[in-house]
Amino acid sequence: MAEIRLEGVAHSYDGGGTWALKPMTWTWRTGRAYALLGPSGCGKTTLLNIVSGLLTPTRGRIWFDDREVTGVPPAGRNIAQVFQFPVLYDQMSVYDNLAFPLRNRGYPRQEVDRRVRRVSGLLGLDEHLRRRSRRLDPGRQQIVALGRGLVRPEVAAVLLDEPLTVVDPAMKWTLRSKLKEIHRDTGHTLVYVTHDQTEALTFADEVVVLNDGEIVQAGEPGELFLSPAHEFVGHFIGSPGMNVLDGAVAGGLVRVGDAAVGRASGDLPPGPVRIGVRPEFVRLTSEEAPPGIAARVTGIDRMGAYDLVHAQVNGHPLVARTDAAAVREPGSVTFLRFAEGRAFLFRDAVRCGVVEPLPGSAP
Ligand SMILES: Nc1ncnc2c1ncn2[C@@H]1O[C@H](COP(=O)(O)OP(=O)(O)OP(=O)(O)O)[C@@H](O)[C@H]1O
Ligand SMILES: [Mg+2]
Repeated sequence: MAEIRLEGVAHSYDGGGTWALKPMTWTWRTGRAYALLGPSGCGKTTLLNIVSGLLTPTRGRIWFDDREVTGVPPAGRNIAQVFQFPVLYDQMSVYDNLAFPLRNRGYPRQEVDRRVRRVSGLLGLDEHLRRRSRRLDPGRQQIVALGRGLVRPEVAAVLLDEPLTVVDPAMKWTLRSKLKEIHRDTGHTLVYVTHDQTEALTFADEVVVLNDGEIVQAGEPGELFLSPAHEFVGHFIGSPGMNVLDGAVAGGLVRVGDAAVGRASGDLPPGPVRIGVRPEFVRLTSEEAPPGIAARVTGIDRMGAYDLVHAQVNGHPLVARTDAAAVREPGSVTFLRFAEGRAFLFRDAVRCGVVEPLPGSAP
């Protein structure tokens, strides 16, 4: 296991014309389970391949603990990497596929057997150990590939690039919890790439959100939900994602149209601002008094346990998640309030403040 440190790492596939990864300085801490989350094309695989050595970054340096590995090829890095589609020895049995990484490094026979059986037990492969891997369905083959990535105890890190794509959805939940169990057991530094927020949030100690070649925020799942540091995190995490309203800061107040919705935190310079608030933190009231903002209800999605109320506010669409008892009719006018400390101010997509209560206003 190692701490993996990237110093000013950036990558361009076309000699500096476009940057798949923008300069980043970032540390993967020893023994933690990370999810690397972001949309297609944001640079997840590029970042993983730079860590494993399949790719040499255009700029920057990489350290595994005190050892610089920037120019070191994959074989010299001691990384286990699992790809999106199964990479196996077709003709070998499942057992031999799992044993291969251990035999290759001269583990004693008994130790090989013990480790293969442990991983096979956890991943539900026991009854398939003697079968040739090409006889398995693609989902099962991928589980074997996953097992191969997890079988070695001494790796610097395990990198998993969307490893459950070809696996049956029902099986995914089970496998993710097995992965967590194996992680607790081995204490590997683990990076799990996904574009699926649920997968990321349920799996990781820490979620690293990548957008357009940049890490926009990293934190525990709750932190990303409650306290998005970037508009992208607000949109990408949550279902539906964060609402964003155009507003302005003037005289210390945050305004949406004519309505003052709160005070701006700190000494935020006056000017345009974007106000981000998740549907969960928008309250609908019938009180017109500040800081209520008038909104027209445009539709309601009844979700069973709760309703999603769609509204128009000063020309912007907005969604509020409310309990099913507080239903408003489409066409009616309602007043919105934001839960204290849960509406944020953004400039250039980056969080720059919080909406604080107006003096003397009821919460
Ligand atoms: N071998 C390559 N040559 C040129 N451009 C590439 C190459 N590989 C990736 N890219 C480009 O670099 C950017 C990042 O790609 P990357 O594959 O790292 O994204 P990703 O987040 O893994 O996407 P996905 O979720 O689709 O796997 C994209 O714009 C992609 O088109
Ligand atoms: Mg990829």
